[in-house]
Amino acid sequence: MLIKEQILLMLEENKGEAISGEEMAERCKCTRAGVWKAIKALQNEGYEIEAVSNKGYTLKTSADVLSQSFIANRLKDAGFSLGVVCEQEVDSTNEVAKGFSAKVGKENLLVVAAHQTAGKGRKGRSFYSPDNTGIYFSLLLHPEVRAEEAVNLTTLAVTAEAEALEYITGYETKIKWVNDVWIREKKISGILTEGATSFEDGMMEYVVVGIGINLYEPEGGFPTDIKHIAGAVYEDNISRENLRNLVVSEIVIRFMQYYKELQQKTYMKDYEKRCFVIGKEVTIMSSDHEKLEDERVLVLGIDNDCHLHVRHKDGRESFLSSGEISVKLD
Ligand code: BTN
Repeated sequence: MLIKEQILLMLEENKGEAISGEEMAERCKCTRAGVWKAIKALQNEGYEIEAVSNKGYTLKTSADVLSQSFIANRLKDAGFSLGVVCEQEVDSTNEVAKGFSAKVGKENLLVVAAHQTAGKGRKGRSFYSPDNTGIYFSLLLHPEVRAEEAVNLTTLAVTAEAEALEYITGYETKIKWVNDVWIREKKISGILTEGATSFEDGMMEYVVVGIGINLYEPEGGFPTDIKHIAGAVYEDNISRENLRNLVVSEIVIRFMQYYKELQQKTYMKDYEKRCFVIGKEVTIMSSDHEKLEDERVLVLGIDNDCHLHVRHKDGRESFLSSGEISVKLD
């Protein structure tokens, strides 16, 4: 562990209380100057660390700054040792994770950022990823699955996310088929799964599952084109202590638990429970958002492959896949 990470851990263990430079130097087996350098680096990353004369350094309790060591330790404690990379700003965490795929072999990796300058959405759209109000992260994984099975990872991810956000916030989370988490009838998150397949056997070489969450409303509100649908987890703008680290680690822990049982699809039970289109009439649209057949269908349920089981107006029933269609509520 780097000196900076060790210092951060000590400060976090003593949050709100002072810990002396001498003690930290002794525990890290480095000089006082080394401690000071690490403190400066942490402050530059955004940590509010106060130097209290004759007492040492205090990490302010209200800090909500991304912490690589907090997330990595939390995952390790839950039994998942994956590499964790935290950045203030990237173009897209999915792109960064893909860049690592050639370097890390079969190791799984988590890339987290506080801000994306070129966040990617589904169907070639962009994903609005402002600084300070959201959290963006991608998991680089190496499952032994064929491409058509890799889509299950999105379903798994949205279930893990909905569960974790409900656990942390106490707000009821719902899932809009196929992979959006909704709170208070607004989309607060999106997931983009990408990957590469081997030409030899059609198996996935790697998969990147990227999740973006609007924790707070951005200053000035959401851009006009997404305003009608986009929402945030919290309605106020009160900074919550350690929220980003908790959100990321709680989601990834749940994700990894389900991932161990990928073949059994144990997540489907909770997915179905939260999927709010079941029992509703919806308009089906083609993937490129063209209206299909000009009809509304009744959603009867969801099968284990996450196909939408619908009844058409003429009484016909069919199973629709998310690759072909999306649904509109009214
Ligand atoms: C969508 O709703 O269209 C999917 C949005 C996915 C956004 C996340 S943010 C983290 C990761 N990096 C990206 O560039 N996109 C995904």
